[in-house]
Amino acid sequence: MRNLADLKGPYRFIMIIVKNIDALQRHLDKARANGNIGFVPTMGALHEGHLELIRTCRKENVQTIASIFVNPAQFNDPTDFQKYPVTIEKDILLLEKEECQLLFLPPVEVIYPHGFKGTAYFDLGDLDKILEGRFRPGHFQGVCKVVNRLLDIVQPTRLYLGQKDFQQCMVIQKLIELTKKNTVVRVCPTKRESDGLAMSSRNVRLSESQRKTAPLIHNTLLRAKRQIKKGSLLMIKQERTAILSEAGFRPDYFEFASLRDLAIKDTWDGEEKLVALVAAYLGEVRLIDNMIIN
Ligand code: PAF
Repeated sequence: MRNLADLKGPYRFIMIIVKNIDALQRHLDKARANGNIGFVPTMGALHEGHLELIRTCRKENVQTIASIFVNPAQFNDPTDFQKYPVTIEKDILLLEKEECQLLFLPPVEVIYPHGFKGTAYFDLGDLDKILEGRFRPGHFQGVCKVVNRLLDIVQPTRLYLGQKDFQQCMVIQKLIELTKKNTVVRVCPTKRESDGLAMSSRNVRLSESQRKTAPLIHNTLLRAKRQIKKGSLLMIKQERTAILSEAGFRPDYFEFASLRDLAIKDTWDGEEKLVALVAAYLGEVRLIDNMIIN
């Protein structure tokens, strides 16, 4: 399964890979005795953004555990699920290079022994109804389902998430509060390509010409950050959405929201801390990004 040429050298770190809960618990019990456990959940197709989470996690914890599980419960669009990139062998090599100690690689029946369509519901208030929640109904309930299960299994001291999925970070923070877990959420800055495009596993699905257009999504946020002033925000939203449409995107939204609770803002008092969030399709690929404004 592994390409030995990539692994040769005087020192080779060996990561433990486990697929079932019993084996995982045995390793975690030993690890817990030595100190804090940091957890980086992923759906694989790893890129620099994920690897940066692993690096931060390694610095802050004695034991780093990553998971790779493409969660069927969080895909509201079956095509997106079918086309989600899977690169397990490469991911394993990358994680080993970062000296991630443990990888949890469960099959679907380990995470969802009773199927994933169960009725578990997490009351997230408005958080799963606005922005991504409006355009991807059920998505955040699916995220909560899997993260709740993973956190119950791993019980980490700290959980590492990327700011690119800003709303997801807030949803998971809320889930942790609702379920009274002890895990601390650490949100790490978005990793970007040199042209500003936020790194995402979905970027590999962009054609050459779409890839050239894609950084506009970041530029539009930068521009909004420069433009914003006290008063109505509607003009900026409309203008940013129109610019994306003219460039060939199909925008779902360009919004400003409160950094505290993600409530959508149409006006600004010049003081409240805001985040700008955008989601738009380029062809079949849906891209999201955000920027803290002040
Ligand atoms: O951000 C992701 O990759 C996923 O939503 C997560 C948090 C691993 C849950 O499946």
